[in-house]
Amino acid sequence: MSFDRIAPLYNIGENVFFGNQLNLARTVFISEFAKCRSVLLLGEGRGRFLQELLAINRKCSVTIVDSSSSMVRYQKSKISTSDFDRVYFNCVSIESFSTNKKFDLICSFFFWDCFTARQIDKLVASYSTLLLKNGLWINSDFIDSVNFKNYIPFIKIRLLYLLFHLTTEIRAWRVEPFKKFAQENSLRSLKFHETNKNFIYTELYQKII
Ligand SMILES: C[S@@+](CC[C@H](N)C(=O)[O-])C[C@H]1O[C@@H](n2cnc3c(N)ncnc32)[C@H](O)[C@@H]1O
Repeated sequence: MSFDRIAPLYNIGENVFFGNQLNLARTVFISEFAKCRSVLLLGEGRGRFLQELLAINRKCSVTIVDSSSSMVRYQKSKISTSDFDRVYFNCVSIESFSTNKKFDLICSFFFWDCFTARQIDKLVASYSTLLLKNGLWINSDFIDSVNFKNYIPFIKIRLLYLLFHLTTEIRAWRVEPFKKFAQENSLRSLKFHETNKNFIYTELYQKII
């Protein structure tokens, strides 16, 4: 499942479809991360969040897992040379990545929409074991539901999937609510924010065991 073909157009597409809303969603709780020490970014894309995280937290080490070499090139282009020794780029699929490290923050922004419920079920169970007790997990995504009063979000999501299916090999066709997978893996909701009501949300969780 590679985003190489879509990577050069990713920011333009994001801005045309959503303006600044996705970035607002990614960064809404960023001040909570100023003291994190070890961060895992799943499917970081073009590196917008990475850039902001490194700016607010001068000490954390960051591990990135992203299967697209093109996306990883964009991520590298976003960071200054002095930050290279604290960012670890892993251009592999999340299914094949393995590590001995533990993290106090895991970030998944607009990432699980690439996966089916079955895939998410397995992956969240496995990645939640990499989170330390009391560690944080932040997730942003779309709320994928039909709303007859406002059908624009629903249409945008369908167009997004059409584009993804034309350019990548993802199997998903709908955005699964992350909450269920979080709850099944001892992640307790701490904060919830809707950047765009009934459409774009961010939720912050804490690992309780
Ligand atoms: C929809 S984009 C989201 C990018 C970014 N997180 C954002 O907020 O815009 C999905 C990202 O996950 C990566 N990705 C997709 N499937 C993956 C997989 N199986 N393993 C690792 N990364 C994957 C893509 O290369 C891309 O960077």
